[in-house]
Formats: sequence, C-alpha cells, structure tokens
Amino acid sequence: MKYQKHRDLKISEIGIGTYSLSGVYGVKNLEEFKRMIYRAYELGVNFFDTAEAYGNAEQILGEIVKPFREDIYIATKVGIRSGIKPNLSKEYIKKACEESLKRLQTDYIDLYQVHFHDPTTPIEETIEALEDLIEEGKIRYYGVGHLPIEVTEEYCRLGKPFSVLAEFSAVARESYEKLLPLYRKYNLGIIAFSTTGRGLLTGKFKENQKFEPGDIRYLDPLFQRERFQHGLRIAKKFAELGERYDKTPVQVAIAWVLAHEGVICALTGPSTIKHLEENVEASGWEIPKEDLRELEEFFKRENEWLRQKQKESIKQILIEPLQEPQRAFVDLIYVIETALSLGIIEEKEILSIFYELYGLRKELDKEDVSEKLKDIQAQLRKVIPLDAL
Ligand SMILES: NC(=O)c1ccc[n+]([C@@H]2O[C@H](COP(=O)([O-])OP(=O)(O)OC[C@H]3O[C@@H](n4cnc5c(N)ncnc54)[C@H](OP(=O)(O)O)[C@@H]3O)[C@@H](O)[C@H]2O)c1
Repeated sequence: MKYQKHRDLKISEIGIGTYSLSGVYGVKNLEEFKRMIYRAYELGVNFFDTAEAYGNAEQILGEIVKPFREDIYIATKVGIRSGIKPNLSKEYIKKACEESLKRLQTDYIDLYQVHFHDPTTPIEETIEALEDLIEEGKIRYYGVGHLPIEVTEEYCRLGKPFSVLAEFSAVARESYEKLLPLYRKYNLGIIAFSTTGRGLLTGKFKENQKFEPGDIRYLDPLFQRERFQHGLRIAKKFAELGERYDKTPVQVAIAWVLAHEGVICALTGPSTIKHLEENVEASGWEIPKEDLRELEEFFKRENEWLRQKQKESIKQILIEPLQEPQRAFVDLIYVIETALSLGIIEEKEILSIFYELYGLRKELDKEDVSEKLKDIQAQLRKVIPLDAL
C-alpha cells in the first residue's frame, strides 16, 4: 500500500468506506463485512470512513477497529443522523460529536467532516464548533463534503479544513475541476468517494441491469438513461486498457482517480474480502502517461455526447406527460441532479423543490401522488430555462 502525506497524517491512498452498511447497495453479510475491514487493516489500509448517518456503521466500525485503533485514522461525518435536513449548529455538532465518539468507542476522531450544507446556520458558527472540538482534543482535523463550491471556498477562507469529500471517478468527473484550485490555494486535500462508480466501473453491469427499489442505484442518476450508457462505455474502455497491463477495470478506475493532483485518498466501499483485495491491488500501479492522455481524448468526446443527450432528457421529462409514479420520481430526480451538474441552475434555486420531491419517496403508492409529481414537474419547468437546453 502506498501512503500520501497530507498535513501531519500519512494516509493509505486507498481508503475503505462503510456507507454500504446503511443498506444503500442492498443487504450485505455483516460478518463478511467485519472480516473485510480487518483484512483491509492487514493489507495496510489505515483510513476508514463512516458517518453518523450510515445506520449503525459507526458502532460496527468502532467495534472492529478497537484493537488497532491507534494504527488507523477514523473519518466520520456530522450534520445529519436521520431525515433529510442537515443541522450544523454549534449545539448540534457538540452533541453529535459526543454520540459519535461513544458509538466509535474512541476518545478522538481523526477527521470530522461536515456531511451536507445547512443554509440556516452561519458557516462561522459551524467552524467555531469544529475548532472548539479540536481544542478539546475530541477531533484532530475537520473537513467538508457535499457543499456547493462557493460554500466550500467560504470554509477555506474562514477556517482551515483538512480535506473535501467529493464524488470523483471516471463517471463523475465534474467536481474535481472545481476543487483543484482550492487544493492549490488552501492545501485542501481531495478525498474521492465512489471511485468504482458504485460498482459501475467493475464492468459487471449489463445494459438491462435492474436494481431493487431499496438499492440507491434504483434512483441514482448514474444508473439512468444516457449516464448509464456512458458509464458502460467507460467500463469497457477500462477493461481494454486493463488487459494490456494485467489489471481489472476497477483497478484502472481507482488508479485513474489516484493519478490526479490533490487526491489524497480514493475511497471505495466493498463489502467482501474478494472485492477489497481487488481494489487494494490498484495501489502502487500508475497508468502510463500516454494512456492517460488517450483517456482524456476519449472523455472529451464522451462529454460532448453526454451533455447533449442529458439536455434532451431534461427537456423531454419536463415537457412530456410523466410516467407511473416510481418512474416519474426517478425521472424528476434525474432532472434536478443533471441540471445541477450541467450548471444550468444553482443549488439554492432548487433545494426546496428537491426536498419536496424527495419527501414523496415513501408515498409513491398513494393515490394523490401523481398530482403532486405533476406539480413538481411544473415547478421545475419554471426554474429550469428550457430555451437554454
Ligand atoms: N456514495 C456516497 O454518496 C458517499 C458520500 C460520501 C462519502 N462516501 C464514502 O465513500 C465510501 C466509498 O463510496 P462508495 O461506497 O459509493 O464506493 P464504491 O466502491 O464506488 O461503491 C460501492 C459499491 O461498489 C461495489 N464494489 C466495490 N468494489 C468492487 C469490486 N472490486 N467488484 C465488484 N463490486 C465492487 C460494492 O459491491 P460489494 O458490496 O458487493 O462489494 C458496492 O456495491 C463510502 O462507503 C463512504 O464511506 C460515500
């Protein structure tokens, strides 16, 4: 395992996450998961990521790493335990930190990360709470994640975040371009998550792949429409490249992330030892420069195609009659996330509609839901300028 030095931590360039313990990727075998964490430690992984929001992942992680706690770094996240509205008030953070420490069975957290943006709390208040926790010895560093770029920069101007968590893989490339300047200016380390593209870059998915409604990929934009087609093509490209170097597509995917300046750790979220061992093997191998250049050319062509197709999809979903509620819900989520990632709208313009829509996810079998979805479609038509598409 290779390690990356950032400030005074020496982090394994491949880190392991525990998001899957919350059931987002379907039901996992807990005993196998526990063995996987121990095996990760044996293989030199020293960076483990969790969150107060990941069900009982903190307890599980805390229990497994207790015997070797001092040899590893624990990163967890604050701001939301359940529900969808984040809380980053000082009062909440202090209480949440105590609870995370208890669940993790430790008396300090190496990296405490703001999980989501809370527009109702001034950033100064959140930073003060986090800096108090550093002074009290309860956390070593704090970081940020899932924030609009201007809010991330505000944290850098007002405080000293160690890192930013960002979805970054060959199928989710937009955030990196925006974060690199912050790495250069503020030494803000980039911790990439979903580096296997939530399994998409393993090359194991097929065109007609189906996910259960309990699996987050059922509604994840990455697995819909043109984005899924695009992902499959990238997985195929990685498989071809990997063959030349005796690497699997997922190893190419992880090495590709690690080839980027500022990335201090590539997080992956396997739940089996087999998947873990495959992912860890990506460390220490570098994709040759000429292949990286060829991939950039390939992505440029893909980007053009994807952008055009995504605009067409947004237009179609907003103009045409919605399909049955499950499908309509997934389509409207797709519109919001795609319009944001294309920079057609800003988060603040659409957040309240997103909350309203997401709130319907458990009501999709109710009789009046179609009307509510139609209303959301109409609201979206008002904020998304169709003539710009
Ligand atoms: N996803 C997010 O929104 C998010 C946000 C912030 C932070 N994080 C942190 O980042 C960590 C990593 O993100 P992620 O969990 O989305 O990572 P990921 O590795 O991209 O996705 C996990 C999924 O990929 C599959 N997978 C991973 N390696 C595989 C392999 N070699 N072969 C086949 N399938 C493989 C896993 O399947 P198996 O279960 O079958 O192994 C699981 O279904 C999280 O666990 C969390 O700690 C995530």
